[in-house]
Amino acid sequence: PETGCLSIVVLGASGDLAKKKTFPALFNLYRQGFLNPDEVHIFGYARTKISDEELRDRIRGYLVDEKNAEQAEALSKFLQLVKYVSGPYDSEEGFQRLDHAISEHEIAKNSSEGSSRRLFYLALPPSVYPSVCKMIKTCCMNKSDLGGWTRIVVEKPFGKDLESAEQLSSQIGELFDESQIYRIDHYLGKELVQNMLVLRFANRFFLPLWNRDNIENVQIVFREDFGTEGRGGYFDEYGIIRDIIQNHLLQVLCLIAMEKPISLKPEHIRDEKVKVLQSVVPISDDEVVLGQYQGYRDDPTVPNDSNTPTFATTILRIHNERWEGVPFILKAGKALNSRKAEIRIQFKDVPGDIFRCQKQGRNEFVIRLQPSEAMYMKLTVKQPGLEMNTVQSELDLSYGQRYQGVAIPEAYERLILDTIKGDQQHFVRRDELKVAWEIFTPLLHRIDRGEVKSIPYKQGSRGPKEADQLLEKAGYLQTHGYIWIPPTL
Ligand code: BG6
Repeated sequence: PETGCLSIVVLGASGDLAKKKTFPALFNLYRQGFLNPDEVHIFGYARTKISDEELRDRIRGYLVDEKNAEQAEALSKFLQLVKYVSGPYDSEEGFQRLDHAISEHEIAKNSSEGSSRRLFYLALPPSVYPSVCKMIKTCCMNKSDLGGWTRIVVEKPFGKDLESAEQLSSQIGELFDESQIYRIDHYLGKELVQNMLVLRFANRFFLPLWNRDNIENVQIVFREDFGTEGRGGYFDEYGIIRDIIQNHLLQVLCLIAMEKPISLKPEHIRDEKVKVLQSVVPISDDEVVLGQYQGYRDDPTVPNDSNTPTFATTILRIHNERWEGVPFILKAGKALNSRKAEIRIQFKDVPGDIFRCQKQGRNEFVIRLQPSEAMYMKLTVKQPGLEMNTVQSELDLSYGQRYQGVAIPEAYERLILDTIKGDQQHFVRRDELKVAWEIFTPLLHRIDRGEVKSIPYKQGSRGPKEADQLLEKAGYLQTHGYIWIPPTL
């Protein structure tokens, strides 16, 4: 592994993302020994004029339960590594001070060998990405002759549609090489999303089944049991398709549908993801159901006539040899009756089924991303006993049970570690982002113009009933009377 001084700069240090995700992930990496205190220094940067100590106080409560004595010591050591620099996002003087602070740290830590690694994490709204990137480029690049790098981490929303996304990409692209840009989609850091490639390509079981001959439909579902909660202002500009479907669910779709990459090299994997996205055909309006939960507009930052969807079901169709005719149903919603994310692969009926009078449902392979990570295969077995009856059951690989005592890392932890290692496999490449926008932009524009309407639904419900009807029309057959219950330890 690389050694030498590592400076991690969190821009937007007092914002929500930094407090809730970035700093906790850094602390967890530190605690587990992935950030060497002899090499690493963390800088927070934001406009507010506060002291180092004040920043530490602001983030402390998010990092650990203070009563956890075991972690309290690590916490105070970690916080000593955190410094704060204040300044504007669009003028050189703040960034010069930041550069100065980084350089001082580099000199202090690098008495002999002096490579310098500089990681800039933009926990900021994308509107300031171009100016911040320009300032970094002008003032804060790694200057060591002895090696090292400068990398930029950015997070969605990358624009609002194809045009604005491309504009943002070219602004950043003029300043940094693609190899320096890490576009986070935190779903790619989830354990079971990362497991997809292994599952598909390291198991003989799945190879012959994974296609249109056997699979009837695929669902990728995201449900939350709470609403926009104070984020109404942001959310109303974007809506559920831009917030969840165009990025998180589409990335999952890529991993389910892509062909086998030539190797595990990040570029080989990302090449295949781009290809499958390019095979997606334009979304048709009659394969879309939008919803908005009742009460969403009560948020004072949301306009009274907002048509922004907080729920959407859309069907994507992939025009290639493997998937022709198989609907990929992407469904996401806020303020629903449960919180979970899962992939559900439903198989076709058994041909010439001799159990048809008893059969209770189709084979399904379900990958539960969260909570209670699991993979289970729903299948029909003989009901144990004297009679020849069939019943739905499952082969269940529940992580909590199978991997007891193994802590599943937070997505952000893993992804930040990848940025330090220089592994771009789990980050979105520029061309990938572009096709993702190409797929959804026409629909998004129709929604923005009010041509596709959001149907009201009750908070805590399943969403609009029209969405279930669409699923049925697409060929999804719900199994009644069977529910999978995550095993308790
Ligand atoms: C974010 C969205 O990207 O993902 C949020 O902006 C959403 O609206 C969140 O709540 C969900 O992430 P997770 O990891 O809790 O499923």
